[in-house]
Amino acid sequence: MSISSEHNIEDQNGSRWRSFVNKCLTCKACPLSMTRKHVVVWRGGINAPLMILGEGPGAEEDRLGKPFVGRSGKLLDLLLSSFEFGEEDFHIANIVKCRPPGNRVPTPEEAGYCQPLLSEQLRLVRPKVYLLMGATAYRYFTGDDNSISRVRGRWIVSNNCYILPTFHPAYILRDPRRKTLMWQDFAILREKMEELCLMPPLNNGTPLQKGD
Ligand code: URA
Repeated sequence: MSISSEHNIEDQNGSRWRSFVNKCLTCKACPLSMTRKHVVVWRGGINAPLMILGEGPGAEEDRLGKPFVGRSGKLLDLLLSSFEFGEEDFHIANIVKCRPPGNRVPTPEEAGYCQPLLSEQLRLVRPKVYLLMGATAYRYFTGDDNSISRVRGRWIVSNNCYILPTFHPAYILRDPRRKTLMWQDFAILREKMEELCLMPPLNNGTPLQKGD
């Protein structure tokens, strides 16, 4: 492939991504658009091999327009950096892109209105591995109603992709006794990234710091 056609592909990808983001920012499909401050689309790499999905923006995310930038985000960032994930290795998004008032769980209707945008986002990013954080991400992504405690930490393989359910960081903040389990989930996630040659082996084979 010539350098100029590589550039064309990059330009095309960049412009598809920009028009997708623009569509999100102007979306008025559901009532959450009336109460939001910002539409929260993503943070991380736009061609990242790992997609991390949460539930929906909270107050800080709504204020800043980025997912997981509040207390839960600090814990998530600690886990990611401990396992040496760089900004381009992951793409973080949510089941809904606008904050449900009072941080309530998004309704099935709200998730349904947002679903075409999330599907488009997944098609553009094309991740190989998914981390589903919490019951809402798990339920809306897989359609399964099992509790997150029952399904966490075990791989689901679907359409040649690897899907790992785990706890939501907000749950760990409320019940720190579960922190070790989430740590274990990140360890198997990191192993899978290596096994699939999506990331190099961890420095010294051990995480940099323990998140406790
Ligand atoms: N909780 C979520 O599920 N998503 C965010 O972006 C922040 C907190």
